[in-house]
Amino acid sequence: MSERVYVFDTTLRDGEQSPGASMNAAEKLRLATQLEKLGVDVIEAGFPAASDGDFDAVSQIARKLKKTQVAGLARASKGDIDRAWGAVQDAAKPRIHTFLATSDIHMKYKLNMERDEVVKNAVDAVRYAKSFTDNVEFSAEDASRSDRDFLCKVFEAAIEAGATTVNIPDTVGYAIPSEFEEMVSYVIAHTPNIGQAVVSVHCHNDLGLATANTLAAIRAGARQAEVTINGIGERAGNTSLEEVIMSLHTRPNYLPMETNINTEEIYPISRLVSMITGIMVQPNKAIVGANAFAHEAGIHQDGVLKNPMTYEIMKPETIGLNRNKLVLGKHSGRHALRDRLKNMGYDLSDEELNLVFTKFKELADKKKHVVDEDLEVIVTEGILRTSDIFQLEYLHVTSGTTVLPMASVKLTINGRSVKDAGYGNGPIDAAFNTIAKLTGAESELLRFSVSALSGGTDALGEVTVRLRENGLVALGKGADPDIIIASAKAYVNGLNRLEYLKANPIQASQFM
Ligand code: KIV
Ligand code: ZN
Repeated sequence: MSERVYVFDTTLRDGEQSPGASMNAAEKLRLATQLEKLGVDVIEAGFPAASDGDFDAVSQIARKLKKTQVAGLARASKGDIDRAWGAVQDAAKPRIHTFLATSDIHMKYKLNMERDEVVKNAVDAVRYAKSFTDNVEFSAEDASRSDRDFLCKVFEAAIEAGATTVNIPDTVGYAIPSEFEEMVSYVIAHTPNIGQAVVSVHCHNDLGLATANTLAAIRAGARQAEVTINGIGERAGNTSLEEVIMSLHTRPNYLPMETNINTEEIYPISRLVSMITGIMVQPNKAIVGANAFAHEAGIHQDGVLKNPMTYEIMKPETIGLNRNKLVLGKHSGRHALRDRLKNMGYDLSDEELNLVFTKFKELADKKKHVVDEDLEVIVTEGILRTSDIFQLEYLHVTSGTTVLPMASVKLTINGRSVKDAGYGNGPIDAAFNTIAKLTGAESELLRFSVSALSGGTDALGEVTVRLRENGLVALGKGADPDIIIASAKAYVNGLNRLEYLKANPIQASQFM
């Protein structure tokens, strides 16, 4: 019989550490709800000691979720553990996740601690966390570069103190699959009380090996995989949930493991994460990239038409791609819209539904088929971002071969309406200049990119911007059939994220 692998999703914590990927509390709540629908076992909702914004978002998620465990991250200190517990205590299934580095290089240069002190601090932290909840995870940061026997000693002590999960992170993405597999086997064989805890792994993708290392660890006996949607995360990112899940799903003979994941929710949540964080999925990304199921070579296309299994090892439907592609059109009513949104995981109030319905009708007038991705944009922009400081109310642009591009813009800033007009080198430049004038923005535009959200010339144009101000970097995303409007929305979204970062300075020093 297959064994169970627990899926621990850290999109909201390690994923949010991707440069520029801050999310507001409503967006985090939305993502957490969708992660629960996907079927992950644990959601690491944030690092409550890092900022008040993180604390609030974790508390809201803890109160909302009914089935999934909600974890809060804490360094091995009382202050951090108090904050983590304060944020997760109302969860149906709370978890405290505490960590301390165990590699010689981290102990010497970062912690300035001897090995014995590290063991003692780990034990104290686990015991303290245990005084709040039975569900305590201990991570040995930089485990893959730690002395193996010392690592076993720390884990033995942490389990003795009450840790129910022990995590082996490849914090800097340094491990090689065969080496990591051997290391996990070693830890399992040489930690006497390991049977009392679940062995977990947490890999980073600096060498592009995060998924391979995670699978190797599962072969060696790890039974919790720490992952993020689309593999987002610190630096080159974390192990991607969809890659691990679809590897287990596609190769059951080699890896006979079960999870609780509903694979058909993979594609929708991948889109949602990209929309909410502003981080685009690279086209050739395994499983969820735009080209993952596209066959370019004629010989491949011919084979796939005769039998999809000639060149397709997975069915697009299995990950929820092409599911209900043609959803609604301009004749669809409020009832059909409510049903569809419910199916997507949105339970909207009547007032919210009215707002979405109006936007949906506007879109359906411009676009024949309104698909789930379009609805996701409407809800994200119309409902999840309503607490934003800057809102785009109105944009009018004139441009052409013989006129100077000009934009008239109306914004609300903290609920107050303001408007102005301005010029630029092109219509987008004119819109951005005017928005900057109205908001007083001093940010620098580092990147601007446009893509189409779905097929067809009437598809929504999706714009991503990357902004920098005083060392803070934020991504912004906007979508609209008109790419100038999409650009303005993306710019306003980026400015809002910068405001969020300014209002929520990281109180805990960055550590991973
Ligand atoms: O990469 C890392 O070591 C971490 C730990 C907190 C698990 O993110
Ligand atoms: Zn990490």
